[in-house]
Amino acid sequence: MKLLAGKPGWTVTADVIVIGSGVAGLTTALNLRSSNLSVLLVTKARIDEGSTKWAQGGIAAALGPGDTPDQHKKDTLIAGAGLCDVAAVDVLVTEGPEAVRKLIARGAVFDKSDSGEIALTREGGHLRNRILHAGGDATGAEVSRALLAAVQDDDGIEVIENALAIDVLKSDAGRVCGVTLHVIGAGSRDGVGRALARAVVIATGGLGQVYAQTTNPAVSTGDGVALALRAGAEIADVEFIQFHPTVLWRDDSLSGQQPLISEAVRGEGAELVNDKGIHFMKGKHPQGDLAPRDIVAIEIFKQMKESNSPHVWLDTTKIKDFADRFPTIFASCIANGIDPRKQLIPVSPASHYSSGGVKVDLMGRTSIPGLYACGETACTGAHGANRLASNSLLEGLVFGTRISTDIAANIAPQSEPSKSTSNDFLLSPAIKMTLQLAMSQGAGVMRNEQSLRETLTTLEQLSAHTSNEPCIEAWEVSNLYLLATAIVKAALERCESRGSHWRSDFADTSNQWVKRIVQNYDEDGKWSSKLEDVKL
Ligand code: FAD
Ligand code: SIN
Repeated sequence: MKLLAGKPGWTVTADVIVIGSGVAGLTTALNLRSSNLSVLLVTKARIDEGSTKWAQGGIAAALGPGDTPDQHKKDTLIAGAGLCDVAAVDVLVTEGPEAVRKLIARGAVFDKSDSGEIALTREGGHLRNRILHAGGDATGAEVSRALLAAVQDDDGIEVIENALAIDVLKSDAGRVCGVTLHVIGAGSRDGVGRALARAVVIATGGLGQVYAQTTNPAVSTGDGVALALRAGAEIADVEFIQFHPTVLWRDDSLSGQQPLISEAVRGEGAELVNDKGIHFMKGKHPQGDLAPRDIVAIEIFKQMKESNSPHVWLDTTKIKDFADRFPTIFASCIANGIDPRKQLIPVSPASHYSSGGVKVDLMGRTSIPGLYACGETACTGAHGANRLASNSLLEGLVFGTRISTDIAANIAPQSEPSKSTSNDFLLSPAIKMTLQLAMSQGAGVMRNEQSLRETLTTLEQLSAHTSNEPCIEAWEVSNLYLLATAIVKAALERCESRGSHWRSDFADTSNQWVKRIVQNYDEDGKWSSKLEDVKL
């Protein structure tokens, strides 16, 4: 299966194509250069677009005095609620500190304490202060700045902006040998073209835009997971959508990207209170307001239901020097008429992170030869059923390095794309809002069989709204549709509550469900799903 698109009018070649310019794509591209491979980095909007630059809290790594990778591992496993691939967690936490040091060597500057050491804070689920941050709450912007500067300095990395990867190209032998691209460009590279390469790395970020309210930017439409799925790759764990507990609530009618109030704010002492002023996380969990994210999100959801209110409150009034410690959050609160030094901040959960994605092994290899996935697009298994805060930037750094090593060691000759015989499909951009609302209502923080079946019915109805006018909005909405369907199917199948998957009709966690739901299109183009044991 592939998306309906015009015939490619031009061709470009490189040794490796990296799709996406967030922490995962940039890290992979830079590391590939040490093996002298030529890299084509394509990115669908401006080069600095994506979730990376929005990251607030920071990067988790066992760098503090007395902290160890083993303790970081324990916290990651607890947050992951029994579904983490332990070997992937080991890789993340043991290679994490070195990956962060390399980032610092590449020019990233992190905040320091008064004694001149890197300042470390705490977020939900961490039993230690191990989160490095930059510019107070502008960590992602600093990571992005440093990596972009390094990429721009490297003549061996060609960058094409406004270049949306549509589908993967495969050889007759089934090896990935390039992608089709739509470029809003000039001269010979404009419209649809082909980019050929010996390996392709998908690093297209998250899929938050599947939901009506999200912390994710507009580009996070899950294109990479959808294109991998269409190419026949396996995807896993997609029912585990993480809802960030504290997103600034403004109005239920607002959709798209909403301002985040970082968990690090709770790390510095903020408390969640309900309409009656009760500090409701106290006594609910040993870590109180800093319990893992899924636990806080579900408690907020329950509080909102009980008080019939669209939000709860975050009390930040006791934090010293709020404006200096959290300048970005302070500015966005002030822009929305709230002074967090004196007033409570209205907050509610919104979709934030996809713990699942394209299933990869410890070297970032997908189930299709020559195709890799990295960062939020990938499912390494390290996050299990719920990602530990600030483990995502880290994952991009660690696995971007591993992927480049594997590509360098196993690069194959360029193969020719086969003549495609697969079916084309394209949906109308007009369905986007209905799809997002259906997902928020039926497949959000709390789901059950009825809400999921209703959502599936809506999705089936929406699939009748086809289009024969290829354009960016149509490709994106077609991707959102595929992912929404995958999320709902997996959420229906998983008859238990675990991590960020909460079913009101199956409230308990079940030992029978220490399984990973893996989905793909089989060779006949039929949707298939299987259960795999988790590697504990
Ligand atoms: P992204 O940074 O999202 O980059 C994806 C790239 O792919 C973009 O360049 C995009 O334009 C491009 N792209 C997408 N589709 C296509 C296509 N079809 N063709 C070509 N290019 C395409 N994590 C932490 O660890 N710590 C934090 O403090 C933290 N805070 C966060 C705060 C916010 C508001 C958000 C939204 C997320 C936060 N996260 C945090 C999560 C983390 O930022 C992301 O998971 C991480 O940055 C993802 O990096 P990535 O490189 O995989 O994707
Ligand atoms: C936050 O700052 O609360 C987000 C951290 C994350 O998603 O890892």
